[in-house]
Amino acid sequence: MCGIVAYVGPKQAQPILLEGLKRLEYRGYDSAGVAVVGEVGLKSARSVGRVSVLEQNLADAGGLAGSLGIAHTRWATHGSPTEANAHPHTDDAGTIALVHNGIIENYATLRTFLEGKGHTFSSETDTEVLAQLIGELRRSGLSLEDAVKAALREVTGAYAIACIAQDEPDTLVVARKGSPLLVGLGPDCYIAASDAQAIISHTTQVIALDDYQVAKLTINGQGPDLRTTTIDDIPVSPVVQDLEMSLDQIELGDYSHYMQKEIMEQPMALTNALRGRLDQREGRVVLGGLANLARDLVRARRFILIGQGTAMHAGLVGEYLLEDLAKVPAEVEYASEFRYRNPIVDEGTVVVAISQSGETADTLAALTEAKDRGALAIGVVNAVGTTIARETDAGVYLHVGPEIGVASTKAFIGQVTVLTLISLLIGRRKYLAKDVVATYLAELEKMPGYIERVVNQTDYIRDETMKYIERENWLFLGRGYNYPVALEGALKLKEISYIHAEGMPAAEMKHGPIALIDEGMPVVFVAPRGSQYDKVVSNIEEVRARGGHIIAVADEDDHEIEQYADTVFRVPHVPEPLQPLITTIPLQLLAYHAAVARGHDVDKPRNLAKSVTVE
Ligand code: M6R
Repeated sequence: MCGIVAYVGPKQAQPILLEGLKRLEYRGYDSAGVAVVGEVGLKSARSVGRVSVLEQNLADAGGLAGSLGIAHTRWATHGSPTEANAHPHTDDAGTIALVHNGIIENYATLRTFLEGKGHTFSSETDTEVLAQLIGELRRSGLSLEDAVKAALREVTGAYAIACIAQDEPDTLVVARKGSPLLVGLGPDCYIAASDAQAIISHTTQVIALDDYQVAKLTINGQGPDLRTTTIDDIPVSPVVQDLEMSLDQIELGDYSHYMQKEIMEQPMALTNALRGRLDQREGRVVLGGLANLARDLVRARRFILIGQGTAMHAGLVGEYLLEDLAKVPAEVEYASEFRYRNPIVDEGTVVVAISQSGETADTLAALTEAKDRGALAIGVVNAVGTTIARETDAGVYLHVGPEIGVASTKAFIGQVTVLTLISLLIGRRKYLAKDVVATYLAELEKMPGYIERVVNQTDYIRDETMKYIERENWLFLGRGYNYPVALEGALKLKEISYIHAEGMPAAEMKHGPIALIDEGMPVVFVAPRGSQYDKVVSNIEEVRARGGHIIAVADEDDHEIEQYADTVFRVPHVPEPLQPLITTIPLQLLAYHAAVARGHDVDKPRNLAKSVTVE
């Protein structure tokens, strides 16, 4: 979704801002813009479409000179994706410019007030209201910093903002409430951004602003100066953190797409997710983030797992794992539904918020609701230091590295891994024997090697996928632990290839969807050997009898399946609770190759954003 980059320092701002915007492109956006303060005052440029369009327009117009600037990629919420609605927005005198992520909820009231003062609006956005309000407040002689604080005291809603003024050419003011904002501390500059990816090529030292905090960042003859306060002007001591990210993690290298890179690098991602967490000798899981809560987790009466999209599918695996391995009642729910259905939550309830980005608005809102109702909140988050990670009582990071492709792949594997570890940790303290846990841990340790064996089949999976890519309707079916995998396989295919795909429990097919099956319809069965294998085979027969084409994900040594399936994707045999970690991989590759073959922009599918920060 929307992205912010802002720079103040000795260099020309424009190239740094554009490079930062390109690193944020993966988040999804529909327009982009930049504003710079230089010798000729405050100038801005905005374009609909990709950052490359903005870059070309800037080049054609001779560029914007100056060493203080702000930039933005916008994903439309208030107002359509037009140049007028793109950020930066200015006050109507053009003296200040502002970029904003989030939503100003009381913008209509503020707009009426400002129109009453004679201001004329040129966009339909809530952001312009904030820019005009800051401009109005400066009329009484306030500095940029003070005007920003005064304006933010009038605002309800969520924001991360960066703001510059024509008459303060060495000062950048940034603030946050509800939307993330990082301030990177370069050796001779400040670079602020909504996302670490835009900062990492400049510095690894950052300050993550907290809600209601404002930073005034100045670079002048006296050197860098940083001042952090609340919007009520109470000084705050900034905490400097080291970004857990390296440049090569966010660069494409030899891969064609980030999604491909992230699928192929899953063996390494999983190794990182497991590092230091398996104590095989003691048959014990070590999760430092939960160390102080182990007793509460063991005593919990119920777990509720919340998330959206892929994170919800991981949560569904978690539901099976917690009931199976930890013997505790568990239920998964879309965070968006949980939030608004007056859920029954009490002090014996543990809510597990699952999120790659740590910023998903639906999940965050549900988490807040659960905490208000007395639940203990655990985070299963990938992006370190993000809002969901901070709002939970404790948590476990995935440690799979930054995920840039919009389609979530390695994060799913990380989420399922962490939920497996949590289930084993609780199970061991309750009913599971040391040897049983040690066996699972040994299999987990081998899992990166198993995944390697599957990703190495990428060419075979591509060639087989080509047989079916003309078909517009697919079904994905699985039972037990492989039912969530079927859901995930269908989501992957539809979101990047735009093929219509449905995932469901294999048995559910007979209760309606079987009517869809016609000659040649691709039906993917997630069918590794396990307690329900025979039943899955019966479902396969039912589809074959109606002319459906069977694509099966099956164990490497399962030759029986060849009698029923038109295509078989092979996976190593693992214990049932660990199967989602391996059976998901061929479906990621299937979706990837289908999307590439259909000519789609795999990393930036239409209408989608990487992190969905509006409810
Ligand atoms: O960042 P989160 O894990 O909270 O995101 C949740 C969903 O928006 C996300 O998983 C989405 O469904 C992906 N595009 C799926 O590939």
